Amino acid sequence: MHILVTGGAGFIGSHLTEQLLDTGNRVTVVDNLSSGKLSNLPEHSNLKFIQKDILACKAEDFTEKIDAIAHLAAIASVNFSWVQPLEAHHNNLSATLAVIQLCEALNISRLVFTSSAAVYGNPSQLPISEEHPTAPISPYGLQKLVSEQYASLFSQKLGLSSVGLRLFNVFGPRQAPDSEYSGVISIFSNAMKQGKPITIYGDGKQTRDFIYVKDVAIAFTKALLAPLEAGSCLICNIGTGKRISLLEIVDIMKASFPQWNAPINFAPPRLADIRHSQADILKASSVLDFMPDGVMNPEIVQILAG
Ligand SMILES: NC(=O)c1ccc[n+]([C@@H]2O[C@H](COP(=O)([O-])OP(=O)(O)OC[C@H]3O[C@@H](n4cnc5c(N)ncnc54)[C@H](O)[C@@H]3O)[C@@H](O)[C@H]2O)c1
Repeated sequence: MHILVTGGAGFIGSHLTEQLLDTGNRVTVVDNLSSGKLSNLPEHSNLKFIQKDILACKAEDFTEKIDAIAHLAAIASVNFSWVQPLEAHHNNLSATLAVIQLCEALNISRLVFTSSAAVYGNPSQLPISEEHPTAPISPYGLQKLVSEQYASLFSQKLGLSSVGLRLFNVFGPRQAPDSEYSGVISIFSNAMKQGKPITIYGDGKQTRDFIYVKDVAIAFTKALLAPLEAGSCLICNIGTGKRISLLEIVDIMKASFPQWNAPINFAPPRLADIRHSQADILKASSVLDFMPDGVMNPEIVQILAG
């Protein structure tokens, strides 16, 4: 298959690109490099890179037949969406609409796009299934929710089959250490490598559903290939289905950094941080046959330690 990956030079997009190339596909990446890096991408004869804003792309930019689009380009920051809501709207919502129009112009029948657990806001029950009410508490969450609604509307109109993946907290190599999502894991591993203290905001008992980036890439590839009806828009949570506290993460990581004996400092909790989050992944496992490895298995911790 020939797949167009938007935001392919970013954290998650570069892992997806790598996985698609490794499994024999051809990939065209479109990325404006606003946060992504060219060095995240491998050199590969089946990879083409176009440095461009996705909103500026036209059908003529793509000369070879494209079979499917994986849309990951966005400004993945809740804070940014509060400080610059119009710019965030442009990159997170208008960009999705631009990608849907490309699907029409290029006669593409499968679109997989990134949504977020942020569409749920403060969850009223755990685990959070796709039927949980959506009540975003940030412009970012709202932009992701309306992206889903646009995808659903246009899928029906165009006979497109689309899949929106509501990602929980993704972590792994190449993640910007200041990521609001899972920076905590890269921050802890960096501090432990350097023998430095770590700081936990709050009591450390807050929980998140942390999913390894290579598992997220698998979810994308399954969604690109799943047999789905034309005109449908499938929305699926992507997490591990398990939640883990920051204190538990520190304990697991200590095993891989036995030389680390610096202190753990506790600071006041961050405002507007939700207390617990955990995905119900029944739908992804039944419809996409997606079964992630698990929270922080020893192999993953070793990779972070490396
Ligand atoms: N990281 C997470 O835990 C998480 C959780 C939920 C959802 N998501 C979503 O997953 C996707 C990927 O996130 P990430 O963590 O890899 O972020 P990232 O910032 O590493 O990647 C985003 C990429 O998109 C590119 N980009 C941004 N705007 C663009 C535009 N208008 N045109 C072309 N390229 C553009 C950036 O340069 C970057 O390479 C985003 O849609 C994000 O909202 C991420």
